Amino acid sequence: MITKVDHIGIAVRDIEEARRLYEALGLKVTHVKEVEEQQVRVAFLPVGDTEVELVQPTTADSGVARFLEKRGEGVHHLCFEVEDIEVALAELQAQGMRLIDREPRQGAFGRVAFLHPKSTHGVLIELVEKS
Ligand code: CO
Repeated sequence: MITKVDHIGIAVRDIEEARRLYEALGLKVTHVKEVEEQQVRVAFLPVGDTEVELVQPTTADSGVARFLEKRGEGVHHLCFEVEDIEVALAELQAQGMRLIDREPRQGAFGRVAFLHPKSTHGVLIELVEKS
């Protein structure tokens, strides 16, 4: 069901600040996008077959803003690419997995859904079906 690690999400307070580190490491920002539904601004930096996603909150009460408040900057989520997100969600739900999203929603580059960290040993997992 999972085809690859699509990206690793890193919560940052300021993309313009944080991107400098990754650029110093030789990565390049290919996209910066506002994802209004999730109240975040994201920047993608490809690395090999996967990407680093910098995630900056655009409002003080978004999920990522709360994460930053509680835990500070750092690794926020792991995103796996799946072929069919509806099938993946149905299978996971049948296995008793807690889902944040029962229905996929629109992400930066396709439909996404998050699994609840309470049923994933503390890792926020995002699934993406690329469009
Ligand atoms: Co992501």
